[in-house]
Amino acid sequence: MQVNYWKQRWVDGNTGWHLSDVNPRLLEYWQHLDIATDSRVLVPLCGKSLDLLWLAKQGHAVVGVEASEIAVGDLPQCDNLIVHCTDFFEFSDPTITAWYDRAALVALSPELRIKYFAHLASFLPRGAKGLLVTFEYPEGTREGPPFSVTADEVLMLCGDNFRCKMIASDGSAEVESVYVIERI
Ligand SMILES: C[S@@+](CC[C@H](N)C(=O)[O-])C[C@H]1O[C@@H](n2cnc3c(N)ncnc32)[C@H](O)[C@@H]1O
Repeated sequence: MQVNYWKQRWVDGNTGWHLSDVNPRLLEYWQHLDIATDSRVLVPLCGKSLDLLWLAKQGHAVVGVEASEIAVGDLPQCDNLIVHCTDFFEFSDPTITAWYDRAALVALSPELRIKYFAHLASFLPRGAKGLLVTFEYPEGTREGPPFSVTADEVLMLCGDNFRCKMIASDGSAEVESVYVIERI
């Protein structure tokens, strides 16, 4: 899915992925990254997620990246939070030491998912750690986005650039999984 598709969804108010509360996966699993309070945390494809504010409240320097001006304009001012309104593939910051992905990887088509991981690898320093939440459903049962992303695909995307560990996986027909990923 290209940027214009998403921008139009914001114009149309077609933003069913947006949660009115902090994502429970973030609350439950963020501590697994075991990162310093003053870490610089990237949230790619962040929308206007309340997760940004929660991460900023933990004391992290949070850097969101979001293409839609509408989404960025809806975010409240908050200490410790900067949101870049740009295409993620144009963004880089080698001072990032952690990242959080909910509904970012799964928002992208298979080709863009490869590009997304390659792009992260291009600027994240060794040791940077990410929390990734994915969504998986049987092929042909629905049309993305969100796209189904299997554990095998996550491993393939990590390749030689990232170490990856699944720390949770729940659901039957539709499975949500959580991974800790580390740039190596
Ligand atoms: C499914 S939404 C998820 C938003 C957020 N992570 C959340 O959990 O609410 C995907 C978001 O990524 C943004 N987006 C899609 N492609 C992008 C790109 N290439 N660069 C920056 N933002 C992008 C869309 O505008 C949309 O807000």
